[in-house]
Amino acid sequence: MLLCTGLLVRRGACPAPRTTQRHTSSAVARQKAGVQFCTFAPYCGYSLVASGIRHPKLIPEPQRNEVLTLKPQRLLDKLITPDGYKLVLYERGGVWSIRVNGYDLMSSRGFGSEEALATLACDRHRLGAQPRILIGGLGMGFTLRAALDCLPPDATVVVAEVFPAVVRWYQEHYGHLTGQALDDPRTEIVEEDVAATIRRATAQPFDLIMLDVDNGPEALTLDRNQDLYGRAGIDRLHSAIVPRGTLAIWSASPDPPFAALLSSRGFAVQTESVRAHAGKGMRHAVFLATRRA
Ligand SMILES: C[S@@+](CC[C@H](N)C(=O)[O-])C[C@H]1O[C@@H](n2cnc3c(N)ncnc32)[C@H](O)[C@@H]1O
Repeated sequence: MLLCTGLLVRRGACPAPRTTQRHTSSAVARQKAGVQFCTFAPYCGYSLVASGIRHPKLIPEPQRNEVLTLKPQRLLDKLITPDGYKLVLYERGGVWSIRVNGYDLMSSRGFGSEEALATLACDRHRLGAQPRILIGGLGMGFTLRAALDCLPPDATVVVAEVFPAVVRWYQEHYGHLTGQALDDPRTEIVEEDVAATIRRATAQPFDLIMLDVDNGPEALTLDRNQDLYGRAGIDRLHSAIVPRGTLAIWSASPDPPFAALLSSRGFAVQTESVRAHAGKGMRHAVFLATRRA
């Protein structure tokens, strides 16, 4: 028997971890009972293909041809980080996917919302001379590329990426997708938890901070990222941004309580709806928060 279910997904990827953890244990139970279980969501063609299951009617038009031709998935690298995270990089037909502990974190299939994070922040913020920008999470560099494209030549863009392997993968595998943005003279990559970069920034605050480190405040890929979104974390972000500076945060979906928390900690907040593919595809959210002076 085959059971499929629709779940919230991250950018061209598969279900958000918190939701899936529940499903993982029930999947095991179903397997034991001889029931084949697959997760399905609009961009989860990979899971279906990987399990050799074809559901053309369930797969959205743009993905159908690719799924049906069953291009082989290539495992490019896999490793366990010193703190125990299992990282895997796959490629299928020119589409790269990063997986952390079994969950798709980023895919090059859909990146409209990652670009929108940067373009919305640039539009919102009136930049002065020599602006300093912090981007939390390199991923596949779509936010970085979009930021560089809207920033002046004298800008500095610090990118904090917690997994050195992701930086290496960018350089070795998919940097060409975003014009080798790490080589731009304005880019400074730091291989560390963005929380550490934020803590240090009180000495020299940023004009603009863009955070896209996981699935947003409600759906965390890395448990420790929850500290970024709590009251103390927001207060640290507040101190890491200049007065009237902008904080932009990617989220899988709108989150009114989180927007209210930002608002109560000294930010003027607006939630924007963004799409996974230029004007189409999954809807995600970007919180645009301006630090009140
Ligand atoms: C969803 S991806 C970012 C996608 C990116 N905006 C893009 O355009 O491709 C999230 C990235 O944040 C990184 N990350 C997760 N937690 C982090 C943290 N606490 N500090 C820095 N990077 C983090 C992940 O390794 C991953 O590279």
